[in-house]
Formats: sequence, C-alpha cells, structure tokens
Amino acid sequence: MTAKDKKCVWITGASSGIGKSAAMEFARTGCKVIVSSRRISSLEKINTDLKKEKIKVEIMPCNVASSANVIQTVKKITETNKINCLINNAGVSTFKPAKENSLQEIKDIINTNLLGSIFTIKQVLPHMIKNGEGMIINILSVAANKIFEESSAYSASKMGLLGYTNVLREELREHNIKVVNILPGATETPMWPKEVRESKSKEMMKPEDLAQLLVWIFLQKKNMVTEEITIRPIQGDI
Ligand SMILES: NC(=O)c1ccc[n+]([C@@H]2O[C@H](COP(=O)([O-])OP(=O)(O)OC[C@H]3O[C@@H](n4cnc5c(N)ncnc54)[C@H](OP(=O)(O)O)[C@@H]3O)[C@@H](O)[C@H]2O)c1
Repeated sequence: MTAKDKKCVWITGASSGIGKSAAMEFARTGCKVIVSSRRISSLEKINTDLKKEKIKVEIMPCNVASSANVIQTVKKITETNKINCLINNAGVSTFKPAKENSLQEIKDIINTNLLGSIFTIKQVLPHMIKNGEGMIINILSVAANKIFEESSAYSASKMGLLGYTNVLREELREHNIKVVNILPGATETPMWPKEVRESKSKEMMKPEDLAQLLVWIFLQKKNMVTEEITIRPIQGDI
C-alpha cells in the first residue's frame, strides 16, 4: 500500500485509554493515524510503544474545547490529508452529585464532550462533503441512555451529543457520510478512579477490545452504516 492509498483516521483524546488503544489498532491495520489531545508527551509515548512494531502515528496536539484550536488543527490536517474517519473520543468526567459539581467542572465536561465533538464535526464536514464520503464515530456512553447518579453533567453531554448526531446522520446520508455512535459501558481506563479500576478490573471491558470493534466498523462495506452499538461488560453496569 502506498502512502497515498492509506486511509486517514483522526482520533481525538488519543493520549490514553480507548483513544490510545484505537490509535494503535488503526495503525496496525495500515491506516494513517493522526492523534490529538492536550498532553503532547503522552501522545509521543504512543510512538514509543509502537516502535517495536515499526509503525507510527502522526501527532497533532489539539484541545477540542477550543473552537479556534479545532479550526487550526483541521486546517493543518486537511492541507495534506483526506480525512476518511473522525473519531470523537475526547472526554472528561467527574463522579460527583450535581450539588457538588463546580461551575468550572460542568463547563469543562460540556465544552469537551459535547461542544468539542460538535466543533470537530463542524470543521471536518465541508471536507468530507467535498470528498463525497467519510465516517464520523462518536464515543458516547451507556449514560446517554441510562440514568446513573453522580454523572449529571456527563450524562447531559452524552445525551446531547446523541441527539445532535442522530439528526446529523439523517442529514448526511445523501453525502455518503456515515455517523456511528458507540455507547460503551465500564471500560478500564484512567477515566475511572484508581480504587475502582483495581477492585473491578475483572468486570470491566478493556480499551484494546473496543479498539478492535472500531476498526471492524470502519472496515465494513461501503453500502451500509452501523448506526449505534451499545456494548457493556457481560456482568452489566458497575
Ligand atoms: N472508560 C469508560 O468506562 C467509558 C465508558 C463509556 C464511554 N467512555 C468515553 O470514552 C472516551 C475516552 O475515555 P477513556 O475512558 O479512554 O478515558 P481517558 O483515558 O481519561 O481518556 C480521555 C482522553 O480525552 C482526552 N481529553 C480530555 N479533554 C480533552 C480536550 N479538551 N481536548 C482534547 N482531548 C481531551 C485526554 O487527553 P489529554 O488529557 O491529553 O487532553 C485523554 O486522551 C470518553 O469520551 C469517555 O466519555 C468511557
């Protein structure tokens, strides 16, 4: 495969957890992977981890909560790449009752999970429409459909993005752009407090298994779209 034939996948929030595993798995599949997040040193660690496999990803730091930063990043990426797939994965959370969430925490969650994803979508859309194809995969959560206490702002962000992207999917069918929503349950990543990861590790899904699911969805036939997948640990929610 020449560099020109490689499919290009842009993953936000790729410095740890699900995003990092997805970056590594897409790179193994032969895709050109562009990784973004705020922590550059953690993004660089992906290439250290991939070195023995003789593959690498391209690092493009971006804070998705900043629309200016997203505009600048998409401009830079599309100067030399055709984005085949955007994976909106960047996300933050707190595990607190609503009355204890500070206004800043609420702003951070909504600005990153909801507006951040909308900013990236808005910027890649003209590019994908011009290309006549594309895929947008959004990493939502089971909390987009089910009520969990101590996650009010997080649920609002994921439910909001579920609504936005369900409308978007219908608008983009005529442009041959697929909108895919993934609603995962508990996955063992740094998003969870250390004590929970240690005590519930066996029950939690692993980010590398979700990464394989994402690659499988991306490689599906051109004429069909996986619209929504809910995936949770076999024992249920934590
Ligand atoms: N773990 C679970 O159980 C679970 C379940 C359902 C859904 N999810 C969703 O999966 C996604 C990935 O989370 P994870 O579990 O893999 O947690 P994680 O390891 O904490 O990863 C979150 C990623 O988002 C990035 N990020 C946070 N704020 C950002 C911003 N403003 N701009 C750009 N990147 C930002 C972080 O990188 P930087 O700090 O370097 O910016 C990090 O790479 C999230 O959307 C989360 O809601 C997770």
